[in-house]
Amino acid sequence: MTGVKMRRLLAGLGIFLLAGYASLVGFTQSPGLTVTSAVAQSGGQVPGNWSGNTSDAEFWRLVKKGVKGTVSIPDKKAGQLVQIDGDELRAFRNNRMANAGYLLLGMVLILVLFFIYRGRIRIEAGPDEAGRKIERFNALERFTHWLTASSFIILSLSGLNMLYGKLFLPAMIGKSAFATLTLWGKMTHNYIAWAFIIGIVMMFILWVKDNIPGKTDLQWLAVGGGLFTEGLHPPSKRFNAGQKLVFWSVILGGLIHIFTGLALLFPFEIQMFAGFFKIVNMFGFAYPTELSALQEVQYALIWHGVSTFVMLALIIGHIYIGTLGMEGAIDAVGDGMVDRNWAKEHHGMWVEEVENTAPAEAGQQPAE
Ligand code: HEM
Repeated sequence: MTGVKMRRLLAGLGIFLLAGYASLVGFTQSPGLTVTSAVAQSGGQVPGNWSGNTSDAEFWRLVKKGVKGTVSIPDKKAGQLVQIDGDELRAFRNNRMANAGYLLLGMVLILVLFFIYRGRIRIEAGPDEAGRKIERFNALERFTHWLTASSFIILSLSGLNMLYGKLFLPAMIGKSAFATLTLWGKMTHNYIAWAFIIGIVMMFILWVKDNIPGKTDLQWLAVGGGLFTEGLHPPSKRFNAGQKLVFWSVILGGLIHIFTGLALLFPFEIQMFAGFFKIVNMFGFAYPTELSALQEVQYALIWHGVSTFVMLALIIGHIYIGTLGMEGAIDAVGDGMVDRNWAKEHHGMWVEEVENTAPAEAGQQPAE
């Protein structure tokens, strides 16, 4: 070996030894390479006596109570290790909110009893002998109805699966199929929500003018809409008081769903409850007005869920009366043309208005 090669070999060996020594110093944190047992594990004490006289038990008790600390990272939520409201939310969601499902069963029971009592509400005068029909909803109105209705039904089914599915579906279809179903259901929920938003906005624009409460609504309500008495047909304009109730519940419930849904879709970015509670508290309520970003999301989840049950109960009643419960109603959202006698019995003032103002435009036409 030449002298040059020998020098290079020694230099290489020297660099290797130096680098090795430097790494070991870094690893042991000791120039003498002294290895001590990990301080955190000696005697069960937290290193550095950082908590002073506070015992570990006391420390963890506070953490579990939800005490908030400070952190230097941008996400300040990390300053709270355990968020106690989360436990309460889970308990509420799995118990009281889940029990709201009985509301839906209660509604079905009421409808069964109503059907037994009243049967199907028929067109009492029978279908118009000349086959005359009146246009009740035009194509845009029907499209809007079914856009809202179909998206609402898909959102309800995928939402209910998120709440109740785990209780029985894994046993029926297997855990893996349930996981796939729920994943796809959640994705569908996220995207179909936009169709529902469009539907609600369009429904409001198209039908608000016919849903302003008026004097005839009081008369209609006073006799229960004639729903319980054969041969009783209180006067009604385009929408009766019951339908106005459905309309405003759909709009209000829809808005609650839309805003809380967006807050869940974009968590920590949309916060509305603190501000909303400030307004509500002006009327004597005492809701908390200082809410963390996480609490905002939790309130959104609660309102989203609870309003679903209220709206669903109402819609079950609506679907019943629009199909099985009343002869001839479904045509309004089918081809849009309803029997003239049906219209006269349920919306007498509207028929007069339509026929008196513009008979030609009213779409009155005999059936083929
Ligand atoms: C299978 C489901 C549904 C059926 C069969 C159905 C049926 C009907 C019928 C027949 C009407 C016209 C009533 C009339 O001419 O006076 C109507 C109107 C209406 N529907 Fe539906 N509907 C369904 C789902 C929904 C859903 C899910 C919503 C909202 C989320 C909804 C909201 C409305 C509203 C606001 C009206 C106008 C007000 C009223 O008539 O109550 N519908 N529906």
